[in-house]
Amino acid sequence: MPIIKGFSKLSRSQKTAWLREQLALSEDFESTLAEFRHPARQATFDEFSENTLTNYLLPFGVAPNFLINDQLYVVPMVIEESSVVAAASRAASFWAQNGGFQTRVKDLKKTGHLWFEWDGAAEQLLPLEEQLMAFLREALKDLSASMEARGGGLQHLQILPQEELPGVYQLLLEFYTGDSMGANFINSCLEAAKEPLNRFLEQKGLPPAQPLMAILSNHTPDCTVTCKVSCKVEDLAPYAGGLTAEDFARKFKLAVDVARQNTHRAVTHNKGIYNGIDAVVLATGNDFRAVEAAGHAFAARDGRYRSLSECEVADGRFSFWLTVPLALGTVGGLTRLHPIAQKAMELLGQPKAAELMQVAAAAGLANNFGAVASLVTTGIQKGHMKLHLSNMLTALGASEAEKEAARAWFSDKTVSQQALRDFLESRRK
Ligand code: MEV
Repeated sequence: MPIIKGFSKLSRSQKTAWLREQLALSEDFESTLAEFRHPARQATFDEFSENTLTNYLLPFGVAPNFLINDQLYVVPMVIEESSVVAAASRAASFWAQNGGFQTRVKDLKKTGHLWFEWDGAAEQLLPLEEQLMAFLREALKDLSASMEARGGGLQHLQILPQEELPGVYQLLLEFYTGDSMGANFINSCLEAAKEPLNRFLEQKGLPPAQPLMAILSNHTPDCTVTCKVSCKVEDLAPYAGGLTAEDFARKFKLAVDVARQNTHRAVTHNKGIYNGIDAVVLATGNDFRAVEAAGHAFAARDGRYRSLSECEVADGRFSFWLTVPLALGTVGGLTRLHPIAQKAMELLGQPKAAELMQVAAAAGLANNFGAVASLVTTGIQKGHMKLHLSNMLTALGASEAEKEAARAWFSDKTVSQQALRDFLESRRK
């Protein structure tokens, strides 16, 4: 295949024609892509990204009965994994009858950095932080006027020489961004700060800085939510499987402790948390890569990667909680552009950013609770394979009648690829 220049300038049909010429594509390649293009609103999706050929559909579902700080929510979730919405719904219903999720947002602070090289003397620059802050606020006034009107804007500044990289400085700026995630606002401010930084240095008779890069930090260790559930140990009986509630609580706590101590387990444990969080983040048009990156850095904040959730069993009470950074927005970006993200916001009652953070954290804790509960009782495969049954049957080319028969047959049996194959073969004989 040759290297192509100007691919993005080609029309959609020219792009697919070129792909067809270059790659051994299936007969139905174009027709399948065409089938998933939206008949009325494709232009909206085309504008999201370059070289859009079609749309990639994922299920948009809901998990009802999320009682969060005494308010009931129906939580929108976008996810392909069969068991996630079911597990979230089950855990939500259970906790709704046991006090619900108690959540608290620590702060909404976000930061960004203007990195620069400077060959002056740090002792001359560091005492000027306050003056530089006032200077930059004035210089960025036009850019931040509407954010300031919404209670946000630039809040704090620090100049940090990088000991390990002599001559390199970080201008650390802290922002509040109202109900927006704020990436565009922060990046615009940081980029616009380059020129005034040098004007300031010149006024002070100091050598000019060489800006290196200006970008927000997705590390948001102050923009966190804590979400907690708690009940009497005896009330855990519906989740205890064949165990007593006491034994279930003990094993559950031990499993969480394992994930606190062991990185290999912690990664999988946290993945189960992000099953819930990412599904809400995606449904509401937020940036799941930013949320994941922040969460994993936070999980390793003491130098070892640990579980984001913790558990305590004391005085007959079971408590399970999670603290997680969640820099989410409910205005701006895809949240307002994606027609289904708008509907997700509608389902949630047009939440403020802090409220959405709490909902996402609750979904994370719900999925984490469901996963660990399964792991220490039946194992996850039983429930997972039941829910995955339809996908497996589709992959094996089963008809609707065969699927129905298989669901009935496997309602009390272990599902496996081979068992399904045998079942279909025996019916087709
Ligand atoms: C699967 O998507 C998620 C789990 O692996 C999480 C966990 O192990 O805690 C079940």
